Amino acid sequence: MAASVAGLDRMARLTCFFVSVFCFFSSHVAADDGLISNGDFETPPPNGFPSGGLGEPETSEIPGWQSNGTIELVSSGQKQGGMILIVPQGSHAARLGNDAEINQDIKLEKGSTYSVTFSAARTCAQLESINISVPPATQSVDLQTLYSVQGWDSYAWAFVAQSEDSKLVFRNPGMEDDPTCGPIIDDIAIKKLFTPDKPKDNVVVNGDFEEGPWMFRNESLGVLLPTNLDEESSPLPGWIIESNRAVRYIDSTHFAVPQGKRAIELLSGKEGIISQMVETTPERSYMLAFSMGQANDSCLKPLAVMAFAADQARGIHYTPTGNMTHMDANLTFTAKAERTRVAFYSVYYNTRSDDLSSLCGPVVDDVRVWSTSGAGYRLAGASAVMWMIWVVLMGL
Ligand SMILES: *[C@@H]1O[C@H](CO)[C@@H](O)[C@H](O)[C@H]1NC(C)=O
Ligand SMILES: *[C@@H]1O[C@H](CO)[C@@H](O)[C@H](O)[C@H]1NC(C)=O
Ligand SMILES: *[C@@H]1O[C@H](CO)[C@@H](O)[C@H](O)[C@H]1NC(C)=O
Ligand SMILES: *[C@@H]1O[C@H](CO)[C@@H](O)[C@H](O)[C@H]1NC(C)=O
Ligand SMILES: *[C@@H]1O[C@H](CO)[C@@H](O)[C@H](O)[C@H]1NC(C)=O
Ligand SMILES: *[C@@H]1O[C@H](CO)[C@@H](O)[C@H](O)[C@H]1NC(C)=O
Repeated sequence: MAASVAGLDRMARLTCFFVSVFCFFSSHVAADDGLISNGDFETPPPNGFPSGGLGEPETSEIPGWQSNGTIELVSSGQKQGGMILIVPQGSHAARLGNDAEINQDIKLEKGSTYSVTFSAARTCAQLESINISVPPATQSVDLQTLYSVQGWDSYAWAFVAQSEDSKLVFRNPGMEDDPTCGPIIDDIAIKKLFTPDKPKDNVVVNGDFEEGPWMFRNESLGVLLPTNLDEESSPLPGWIIESNRAVRYIDSTHFAVPQGKRAIELLSGKEGIISQMVETTPERSYMLAFSMGQANDSCLKPLAVMAFAADQARGIHYTPTGNMTHMDANLTFTAKAERTRVAFYSVYYNTRSDDLSSLCGPVVDDVRVWSTSGAGYRLAGASAVMWMIWVVLMGL
């Protein structure tokens, strides 16, 4: 999906090139979707990569980035106190020392929503977090919970661009006694998000989860979406992550996905909740339907989803027929207001059978909500027609 969007974007730009008069203002300099400049820290510094592992960390000059404080380029295989440092992808990554920051100038389209995807690993057992910002937007991402045993995870964060010339900043707010502690970051990408139109006969926005943060084609662990309570700046358009734990955005290349190319894997039981406020008409009856699946990531059963809509809740166990990797589930409700909350969490706290510690859970996809008060609809339609006829007749 991401690739095809990038493709479309490229096509749009090509078109813009030929119709440059019309596109002069829209085809300017905003960042391309994908890896940012030296976002994988694989570009060698002028004096080459530091040898590493000798005494105090050395601050290196990192092409494409400005920094403040101790920023160290680390190499895969590099050891520290007998422990091998984790480099999420490729051969190099950056470690942020105490209160150190690294930043890069980025061009954005003012008013657009962007998501930033990055990989991060902790180095010491301490509480570690990363402060990511594109001022004035900022969020602290907690690296305390390890979601996978690889020792690193990918995260996404989103913001609304306040100006064309912005700065993307990663900061380690920590102050550890051991200055060689501090998170390692790698593979930083950006993507301009769009909010898909509401489909016909379905009031859920992005219910198929096809629009979301950038995912590298080889991102085999999916992308974690941490808490985000602001619908306008959500990395998952239409949805918010209202719990203090993350949910995982997964792709069909590495996981079983019920429909399309993307879906959400719910993690950490009721500590991982996604929700959306959908438009409803009070007193009308609705059906909430969705696909529920297993991600094919050797997640230990049982799997179950708790679904909520208005004052209704239903726990649904994953019981697929035959060799299917997903099943249909639904819930009926009566709307009480003009906006109704639809939400999902995993009933159980599941882990993978191969390591018994990586978090996993049921997959949710293809969420739809539609009115089942069909008669009411038609009645309303009919009376509107009668009223119009009446207005026309009175006008004559
Ligand atoms: C670097 O960080 C220190 C401490 O946070 C701050 O006082 C200083 O102004 C920063 N320097 C630059 C150039 O940003
Ligand atoms: C994944 O893709 C990125 C960007 O295309 C590349 O730099 C990295 O080496 C790849 N990693 C693996 C493990 O293939
Ligand atoms: C992140 O750092 C910036 C600047 O250092 C600060 O203004 C902001 O409050 C921090 N954000 C969080 C969530 O800690
Ligand atoms: C599940 O994963 C295995 C490899 O682990 C793969 O061979 C199989 O095709 C996958 N099935 C689905 C439905 O994705
Ligand atoms: C599921 O089973 C059917 C028939 O039993 C078979 O044709 C199909 O290939 C199977 N699908 C998968 C993904 O194993
Ligand atoms: C809703 O789920 C029930 C089983 O719980 C099923 O019998 C029914 O066909 C489903 N309805 C729709 C519209 O999917």
